[in-house]
Amino acid sequence: MSYIDEAKAKYEKLKTQKDVLILSVESSCDETSIALVKNGREVLANIVSSQIDIHKLYGGVVPEIASRNHIKNISGVLREALAVSGKTLQDIDAVAVTYGAGLMGALLVGVNFAKTLAYALNVPLIAVSHVHGHIGANYISYQDLKPPFLCLMVSGGHTAIVEVQDYCKFKLIGSTIDDSVGECFDKVARVLGLSYPGGPNIDRLAKDGKNSVKFNYKTPLKDTYNFSFSGLKTAVVNYVHNKEQKGEEIVKEDVARSFQELVTDELCEKAIRAVKEFGKDKIVVAGGVGANSMLREKIQKASEENGIKAYMPVLKYCTDNAAMIGSIAYYYVLAGIGFADLTLTARPTVNI
Ligand code: KG4
Ligand code: ZN
Repeated sequence: MSYIDEAKAKYEKLKTQKDVLILSVESSCDETSIALVKNGREVLANIVSSQIDIHKLYGGVVPEIASRNHIKNISGVLREALAVSGKTLQDIDAVAVTYGAGLMGALLVGVNFAKTLAYALNVPLIAVSHVHGHIGANYISYQDLKPPFLCLMVSGGHTAIVEVQDYCKFKLIGSTIDDSVGECFDKVARVLGLSYPGGPNIDRLAKDGKNSVKFNYKTPLKDTYNFSFSGLKTAVVNYVHNKEQKGEEIVKEDVARSFQELVTDELCEKAIRAVKEFGKDKIVVAGGVGANSMLREKIQKASEENGIKAYMPVLKYCTDNAAMIGSIAYYYVLAGIGFADLTLTARPTVNI
């Protein structure tokens, strides 16, 4: 039997196995990560090698540098993941990998590494969507969480409201028509002179903001579930530039806080409205911006006021990591999707 026939047969059998141990690989942006996850819920190891310090020098991720560093780091990350988990390569039942969305060159490193590993170990390869992975971050944060629920997806690549009807059944309710919310955070941070990645720095600075700043901006698309952040981005940039030109003082803390208030009010209002309209009782936050302290507080408060249960990943699983990929990969197996052969390649964009 060829590798593919054997892998396909093994993949089908995984569904009936009592325990499934998945080794997962994530390299879509600037984190090289490998995890070992049992039955979609138990994280035995989750090693994340961040390149933030390298890309900080350039004010953002430089794709070519990210790819090169993934190549440099990935074998060491694998060795560390195995050591932490106490498992050997022979214990692995399947290899899962993020195939998109993300930076093409960065993704290709993970995809080729995972293909090689799956082939060498003679185990199935599972191609996972990064967006689904962010939802999986909640299954490893909350052992009792099960679909259906409404998901607010807020990352550097996506901003969307998604109805999660089942583990692998998603319906897009609304999404951004231009920039993602993460991009907007990063851009505003840059104009305020904060380093990359901007989101956590805005979050920190905003805590010291005292006075409200008025931008020349009105929240668009109010009655829909779609978002548009490019107008807000421009409004903040214009505010800062105007003040600079006039030689007036900018209180960065106030700018960060006022910007963050506008963004989180909109995200929270739309998410809670969608939960109610779509008859759900749970709101699940996913993606890097889900680490934002103001967003978390507002979602928690609004949920309590509306009799909704709020789920937000523990902070280390909000931003990119392989454990979330290993979690959702298990549910791909149960749903019979994601099996990949050795022609698998990376995709810069994927649909929800
Ligand atoms: O999910 P993620 O790690 O990568 C993508 O899939 O895009 O999200 C990265 C984004 C960046 O834009 C980063 O600035 C933002 O998440 N982020 C935050 C916070 N932590 C990370 N934004 C606001 N507040 C935070 N605390
Ligand atoms: Zn991500």
